[in-house]
Amino acid sequence: LTSPSSRTSLLTWFDATSTARSMPWRQPFSPPATLSPSALSQRAYQVWISEVMLQQTRVAVVIGYWTRWMARWPAISDLAAASEEEVLGMWQGLGYYSRARRVWQAARLVCEQMGAMLPGEVGALMRVPGVGRYTAGAVASIVFGVAAPVVDGNVLRVLSRQMGVLGDVKGDKAVIERLWDTAEQLVKAVAGDGDGEEPSDRPGRWGQALMELGSTVCTPKPNCAACPITETCKAYTEGLALAGGGSCIE
Ligand code: ADE
Repeated sequence: LTSPSSRTSLLTWFDATSTARSMPWRQPFSPPATLSPSALSQRAYQVWISEVMLQQTRVAVVIGYWTRWMARWPAISDLAAASEEEVLGMWQGLGYYSRARRVWQAARLVCEQMGAMLPGEVGALMRVPGVGRYTAGAVASIVFGVAAPVVDGNVLRVLSRQMGVLGDVKGDKAVIERLWDTAEQLVKAVAGDGDGEEPSDRPGRWGQALMELGSTVCTPKPNCAACPITETCKAYTEGLALAGGGSCIE
């Protein structure tokens, strides 16, 4: 991913796969200035809920939960007005109920203190209770077009292989920090590979492309034959992904 052409390859691959694998929370990007405040808030809410659900559950399962959730509570204000029991009931089967409770509490706070609008910057999003760096980056990049990194377990694996970072990508804080830095540099480079204007659709597509590659191709046992970015992959070119062993691979 060190070359602009490899970054373009990943985006092109993502555009093709995301057409094939549609998800109801994915919508064509519109620059925030072209949307009404309520349309923008709606998108941010939809992506926020999808990302919280996706943190623990596969896409195929999340689609049903997300669709039912949005039918019941189309706007963040609807969620804020729900009872805790209703919310936990809707979450039934997803597990990690503390997440549902936190989402509900956050919705109430956003409605009481932030005019029912989720903010568009990473720092402001992270002041919403329960919204961490990952979710803030996802909402800021996908909805607001900000060049913010989005790093989950899949992305850590992809980047560690690309960069040849051998180390414990699941537990070593220093390794994880380094990969977040790498992800930040990359998403900024990707934004600049376009016309460099922010906001644009490129950061959101990019973060999702990395997650998608990690969940479908660059899996623990990778399918390198299907990968659009082997050219810049240290693990691939140096034989690490094929040799097995080491946490660059798992
Ligand atoms: N995993 C979690 N969030 C995702 C997203 N927005 N796109 C693809 N995979 C994901």
